[in-house]
Amino acid sequence: MLNVVAEKQCIDFTDRQQREAAYYDQYSTTHEVQKVDFAPATSDQLRPWSPYWSLVRLVRDEFRDSSQKLLEFGSGMGVTSTVFAKVGFNVTGIDISEGNCRVARKLVAQYGLEDRCDFQVMPGEMLEFDDNTFDVITGVDILHHVDVPVVIKELKRVLKPGGVAIFKEPLGDTILERIRELKLFMKMAPRDSSQDNHIHITEDERKLSREEIDLIYASFTVETERRFSVLQRFYRLLPKRWWNMVWKLQRADYEIMSRCKTYEKLGDIGIFVCRKTA
Ligand SMILES: C[S@@+](CC[C@H](N)C(=O)[O-])C[C@H]1O[C@@H](n2cnc3c(N)ncnc32)[C@H](O)[C@@H]1O
Repeated sequence: MLNVVAEKQCIDFTDRQQREAAYYDQYSTTHEVQKVDFAPATSDQLRPWSPYWSLVRLVRDEFRDSSQKLLEFGSGMGVTSTVFAKVGFNVTGIDISEGNCRVARKLVAQYGLEDRCDFQVMPGEMLEFDDNTFDVITGVDILHHVDVPVVIKELKRVLKPGGVAIFKEPLGDTILERIRELKLFMKMAPRDSSQDNHIHITEDERKLSREEIDLIYASFTVETERRFSVLQRFYRLLPKRWWNMVWKLQRADYEIMSRCKTYEKLGDIGIFVCRKTA
């Protein structure tokens, strides 16, 4: 099996896919996830200021019964897939990294949810599923790692008519981002790849461009777009010991965004709820 996977990576994967796979194969050996926090799905609390909590709640709202098939596209080490299996979905996770899929299989077994969750090594650009297979598709911080036009077409193909795709992504279409791209700032704080705990960055990832966001709108009926993270994005300027207080910045952003739509446009994390209607 391992040989087949290794062979597949050499023969079928593009250079970019191979670089992503190599990066996450390495990352998964040094940052293996040990446990899952189910609170975003199971807690009575609401945290509408948190992009991750908001995404999990939106997906949970789509749950009708355990026959529903959910595709987690770019499932990484399986944390979010495990949460969705716990909610009751029948989950298929796909990811380019065999290392990540290995950790994900172990993680889901740790919670006895392996019967409801299957992880497969597969590029998002070439999904090995029939048309109209999935009721729900989720993607967390993944579109900005892939060939967006090809992947959006594939995701739409495998989503059932009336099904929903819910994405959370970093966005590069804001004024703040354009300022960030200025030579002066790039010199002061270059965008190097990193395997840091908090800000791991691959060589090829790029925040979604306006054109890529427009493509999402052209391919689906976008029922909700919500933005987060204006003050939040500056948390890294704070001393590391304060980084676990990032939720305070998220909450301040949420309060301001609730009152001012223009401020929301500055947010560089977006959630999109996309229905397949045609
Ligand atoms: C930032 S991580 C997000 C992982 C997971 N969604 C999470 O939130 O933890 C990006 C993931 O995309 C995967 N990936 C990168 N390129 C891919 C591709 N072309 N097809 C499928 N997965 C890919 C990586 O292996 C990695 O697991």
